Amino acid sequence: MQHTRIKDLLNASTFGQEVTVKAWVKTFRNNQFLALNDGSCLGNLQAVIDFTHTEEALLKRLNTGAAVLVRGPLVESLGKGQRVEVKVSHLEILGDSDPEKFPLQPKKHSLEFLREIAHLRFRTNTFNAIFKVRHTLAFAIHQFFNDRGFVYLHSPIITGSDAEGAGEMFRVTTLDLNNPPRLEDGSINYKEDFFARSTNLTVSGQLEGELAAMALGNIYTFGPTFRAENSNTTRHLAEFWMVEPEMAFYELKDNMDLAEDMLKYLIRYALEHCPDEIDFLKNRLLEEEKLKPQAERSELDLVSKLNFCLENNFERLTYTEAIEILRQSKPNQKKQFKYLIEGWGTDLQSEHERYLVEKHFKKPVILTDYPAEIKSFYMRQNEPDAQGRKTVGAMDILFPGIGEMVGGSQREERLDRLVGRMEELGIPAEEMDWFLDTRRFGTAPHSGFGLGFERLVLFVTGMTNIRDVIPFPRTPKNAEF
Ligand code: 4AD
Ligand code: MG
Repeated sequence: MQHTRIKDLLNASTFGQEVTVKAWVKTFRNNQFLALNDGSCLGNLQAVIDFTHTEEALLKRLNTGAAVLVRGPLVESLGKGQRVEVKVSHLEILGDSDPEKFPLQPKKHSLEFLREIAHLRFRTNTFNAIFKVRHTLAFAIHQFFNDRGFVYLHSPIITGSDAEGAGEMFRVTTLDLNNPPRLEDGSINYKEDFFARSTNLTVSGQLEGELAAMALGNIYTFGPTFRAENSNTTRHLAEFWMVEPEMAFYELKDNMDLAEDMLKYLIRYALEHCPDEIDFLKNRLLEEEKLKPQAERSELDLVSKLNFCLENNFERLTYTEAIEILRQSKPNQKKQFKYLIEGWGTDLQSEHERYLVEKHFKKPVILTDYPAEIKSFYMRQNEPDAQGRKTVGAMDILFPGIGEMVGGSQREERLDRLVGRMEELGIPAEEMDWFLDTRRFGTAPHSGFGLGFERLVLFVTGMTNIRDVIPFPRTPKNAEF
């Protein structure tokens, strides 16, 4: 049967026509006023019931969470709080919701509680808004790259290679765990496994992306990636979505320009296409922050923070310059950092990234030219500096409240340099022959980066835990639903 979305009814400009609505009950008060939501927008539609002409038994079933059908004329509302309402002439219960058992009552629930009932949390306004923003950002990613002539490349989920060389992979196998075939030396014989080799879930589509970029020019991947790192933080997932553009003939600066343009485009797109959702999330955050001491509250509200990012250039500096700022910073001098910055060469901890972004520059920062030792094998080697220190053409984009949003680099296109680095790290060149072929035949400078999609959604929604911006989070000791 034909029914109209609540979003369209709330925007209606003509009245009197009969409409049919199918939705879920949010609240029912005074035996008369039904607040209905069908997911099409955050707003509820008021449906007014003539209880004197409605069976008592039917009224009793109008519980929060029940699915209903109402029909009647759409009229201008005389009451406060809504512009339109439906005068119900016909009411049907499509699916009951037992108020004794339905866990979502019309009151405030904590995000922790909602995480435990992630299968039902879509029904709250907060998660309605979050997943609309998430969808909009995903759509905008395709729009951005399509408009610029990039090809969407589907990199494999199952691979034999460890793109990041960090060894944090989930194994994929059909071998019998209780009785795997073994070689003479006792090790597992993967020749008998499904793919006749050991395989894992991808940690990054970059290496395959490079192969395609070295023929198609500009490509991007957008898909799930998997990391078996035991990081129980508000920024890490074991399964997360990554956007990885890869561009032939791009050098590091081109790479940074593209990443900054992309992030600004995506934030602007969300502001333009989800104004109601972002406004709702802004107010949610203001409420949440009221519970914090003044000093810990954000200086800017969510919308101002997003606009601020659009209006300012990201600060660009080298790792070496950043280390100098950090070394001389107050928290370092006063030994307030947990990890004190003493010399050059160690990786930055999130307290250092946050200091640079939130205290020192107060805006997104692009750090470049990291020490080779702390970055992946494929990054382009810079000439050693005057003190003989080795760096690579890496770039990380750090965001307030998030830390690392994007990680990327110019790629090492020189075969001898690349193979040399792989040897140093013990990465067997024969297993990566396919990758090295790009450097053997028509090699050229190229660059790319990876955007952690959930970290972007976190930033744009103003949420604080990454588990709240993906429908069903996978984290250590948790893969429910
Ligand atoms: O810095 P990462 O590890 O870089 C790569 O994987 C490169 N292959 C990307 C490239 O150059 N094509 O990861 C990229 C981004 C990080 O900046 C972060 O935003 C996100 O992915 N990320 C995670 N997000 C959620 N949970 C995790 N466990 C993440 N690990 C990385
Ligand atoms: Mg990184």
